[in-house]
Amino acid sequence: MTPVLKAKNLCKGYEVGDEVITAVCNINLTINKGDFIAITGKSGSGKSTLMHMLGLLDTPTSGELILNGKNTKGMSERELAQVRNTDIGFVFQAFNLLQRTTVLENVMLPLIYSRIPNSEHEKIALEVIEQVGLSHRLKNKSNELSGGERQRVAIARALVNNPSLILADEPTGNLDSKMGEEIEKILINLNNEGRTLILVTHDEDLAKIAKRQVILKDGAILSER
Ligand SMILES: Nc1ncnc2c1ncn2[C@@H]1O[C@H](COP(=O)(O)OP(=O)(O)OP(=O)(O)O)[C@@H](O)[C@H]1O
Ligand SMILES: [Mg+2]
Repeated sequence: MTPVLKAKNLCKGYEVGDEVITAVCNINLTINKGDFIAITGKSGSGKSTLMHMLGLLDTPTSGELILNGKNTKGMSERELAQVRNTDIGFVFQAFNLLQRTTVLENVMLPLIYSRIPNSEHEKIALEVIEQVGLSHRLKNKSNELSGGERQRVAIARALVNNPSLILADEPTGNLDSKMGEEIEKILINLNNEGRTLILVTHDEDLAKIAKRQVILKDGAILSER
């Protein structure tokens, strides 16, 4: 079976003045369908840098990234944007929701740029909203929701295009422990349904819910379980 994502010798360096800071180096990772991987490590170890590359939000300095059998090297900005929208679902700590827009509208948004006919958008959005348990909040605007509810909207929005990969950066970072547990349950359910997840976190307890863990140190893989 073709892996969902394969990283080969992935490196990212940043030029700061005359110096090049190596943020991430020589990362080799294979992510198969149904995997659930937590990427952990101390602050500055390269988690966000790696995640941005895996999500095609940032280009590696060297190395390759193969998504669903397709090398991302040489893809145009337009192609990358298309792939990001249809193949990858992002869940960020800061939610990135439109504040004065309703739950339903926020979740339908990524479908505008998809090939799915408009007539089906609402039905698909309602299904994923149901999956995250927010069917009773369809008409609420984001700024009228609790932190945990907002994060659930962000997850529903990440699911709506049925992506082959879901990337989450500190998805419980802004939440109290009870709301964090709700989000954990949703992530576990999604994986049990066969979704492929990559989670970035500094929280060891959250990392435990994943099937695999990759620990970064100084931009390299220190250990894996
Ligand atoms: N734009 C940039 N320019 C220069 N150096 C950077 C840049 N972004 C990140 N770095 C450096 O790269 C290294 C890895 O940063 P990264 O943000 O990936 O760490 P992280 O593991 O996500 O940390 P945290 O847990 O604090 O979010 C750090 O040493 C950081 O200072
Ligand atoms: Mg980070």
